[in-house]
Amino acid sequence: PSRPVIFSGMQPSSDSLHLGNYLGALVNWVALQDAYDPIYCVVDLHAITVQQDPEALRQNVRRTAAQYLAAGIDLDRSTLFVQSHVPAHAELAWVLGSMTGFGEASRMTQFKDKSAKQGSDATTVGLFTYPVLMAADILLYGTHLVPVGDDQRQHLELTRDLANRFNARYGETMVVPEALIGKESARIYDLQEPTAKMSKSAGSEAGLVKLLDEPSITAKKFRSAVTDTEREIRFDPASKPGISNLLGIYAAVTGKSIDALEREYAGRGYGDLKKELAELVVDTIAPIRARTLELMQDPAELDRLLAIGAEKASDRAERMLRDVYDRVGF
Ligand code: ADP
Ligand code: NA
Repeated sequence: PSRPVIFSGMQPSSDSLHLGNYLGALVNWVALQDAYDPIYCVVDLHAITVQQDPEALRQNVRRTAAQYLAAGIDLDRSTLFVQSHVPAHAELAWVLGSMTGFGEASRMTQFKDKSAKQGSDATTVGLFTYPVLMAADILLYGTHLVPVGDDQRQHLELTRDLANRFNARYGETMVVPEALIGKESARIYDLQEPTAKMSKSAGSEAGLVKLLDEPSITAKKFRSAVTDTEREIRFDPASKPGISNLLGIYAAVTGKSIDALEREYAGRGYGDLKKELAELVVDTIAPIRARTLELMQDPAELDRLLAIGAEKASDRAERMLRDVYDRVGF
């Protein structure tokens, strides 16, 4: 019996993934390998919707793939590849874009937010049509389930609408994907601005915990994390966002419940919590960092693995694209 197909990807648009990417997505990706047929993609076509330095992009693609592998993505159970290596993504996106209403695309709130920050001349048509490319990514593989955060839900809805529209117009072709509702995945906040999501593109440098930071830097970031003027270690995101974020990270890293952590730290100081959490996080990510650096020592081998992944992905994607082209009348 074939396993349900899962598709997910991350952009290679920074020099390191961060703790939010790891605890909020990658840990889950690794766990899903047992029961699903996962397709994990380094989405470099998406990354160029904002300008990238070519050499930095090339390195970041390898580094992102290396971090996936170092975190436990297993090439026997998962397909791992780079989006631009499989031309069918851009090709299907064109077909789907031709079936997407301009008004429909204009309603995507992520584009509205991002382009408002950039201004209309700086923003790109690529950023506008990004959700259509995302739909192509998903629909090419007959994906059943997509692990999505809140910020991608609207894009998944568009994907479902496009799949249904294609099927209605041309006959049953596309699997209509669903959101994968797993166990509540961790949401990690900036250590310095704990009401903002930890993010490569927002928040503070000192509050961004990178997987590839040196362990001493990681420990320092936790020791300097913003807290509050009380003394009580208690989970209360509204009035104690800093401490609540530390407890959330602690729970995600150890699998302990927040309740258990509150009991464990009852009557103890913030300093203890920060110091112990720093050690736990370092113990968790230092091996991933070490393995990533090792993989990056041999770019030819990484490229070889990614070429195998691209071939596997291409076989599947091309099958769908040929069917689509045939139905469209090409
Ligand atoms: P960023 O916000 O840094 O740009 P992306 O949007 O590229 O990160 O997200 C890549 C993946 O990591 C997505 O699955 C997203 O849900 C997850 N993710 C990103 N930031 C966080 C966070 N702070 N907490 C939990 N998950 C996160
Ligand atoms: Na983002």
